[in-house]
Amino acid sequence: MFKSDTFKDKVILVTGGRSGIGFQIAKDFLQLGGKVIICSRKEDQLKTAAEELSAYGELSYKACDIRNTDEIQSLATMIKEKYKGLDILINNAGGQFPALAEYINDKGWNAVINNNLNGTFAMTREMANAFFIPQKQGVIVNIIAEVLRGFPGMAHTGAARAGVENLTKTLAQEWSDFNIRINCVAPGIIESSGLDNYPKQIQDMFEEAQKAIPLKRFGKVEDVSNAVTFLSSPMSAYITGVSLYVDGAQHLGFDKMGLANVLKSFMN
Ligand SMILES: NC(=O)c1ccc[n+]([C@@H]2O[C@H](COP(=O)([O-])OP(=O)(O)OC[C@H]3O[C@@H](n4cnc5c(N)ncnc54)[C@H](OP(=O)(O)O)[C@@H]3O)[C@@H](O)[C@H]2O)c1
Repeated sequence: MFKSDTFKDKVILVTGGRSGIGFQIAKDFLQLGGKVIICSRKEDQLKTAAEELSAYGELSYKACDIRNTDEIQSLATMIKEKYKGLDILINNAGGQFPALAEYINDKGWNAVINNNLNGTFAMTREMANAFFIPQKQGVIVNIIAEVLRGFPGMAHTGAARAGVENLTKTLAQEWSDFNIRINCVAPGIIESSGLDNYPKQIQDMFEEAQKAIPLKRFGKVEDVSNAVTFLSSPMSAYITGVSLYVDGAQHLGFDKMGLANVLKSFMN
């Protein structure tokens, strides 16, 4: 579908690009000719990922916490000095923890909302003001999660991702005047480093969970990246304000109580 020069001369920022899904997205953009910047909080691990990714093309990195506007602005300054502009922003950074809603305290709730909703908005606003709006051109892809029918076992991220999805619809309209396209990719359960953080009881349910997904498997990081590169490319020039599910049809039929039921077996 794509050629090695599909993203030639395009400058692309991938947040959370040091691991998992973000790493694959960064790698694919590099292999398709793009110039990629990755950012995340942990500088050492970011540097290691950057060394590996540099084998595929022109790669820069900078530590940046998406919850910190000063750090985002300093990242924008670095991009301006090095590349003059930014063409594509992939809001991939994020994280959450499994918990039944009644056990999520203010600190835990605020941490997830701050990261997955507020951080995504701050990054989007700052990059739009620094680049996309003055350039009158830009593409944004927000990685959310499949939360169509709620997210039992992760109420905080369900709320945050639904917020980003609605924000995406708003910005697709408000910023159409600036020739900015913005869409979401909504992954189901993806085999990536992010899953390693879950407790053993939850990892033990993964095999059964795969059987309940219509396509009978979890997604791969490449599945998500393919959707992201499509939504970033001219092939999707007339698509804005939508969510593309990369979930093996999980949103249509998967019993989402599986995670909550496992949590109930050891949290209550
Ligand atoms: N894997 C799945 O099944 C799945 C499903 C749906 C949605 N998602 C979402 O897809 C995205 C990527 O997931 P993944 O599986 O690749 O997980 P991952 O390996 O844990 O990647 C998350 C990345 O985000 C970065 N990050 C987190 N908080 C940040 C912050 N405040 N500022 C800057 N960077 C931050 C992390 O780096 P640092 O620790 O260095 O900051 C890390 O590189 C996440 O938003 C995740 O929630 C994943």
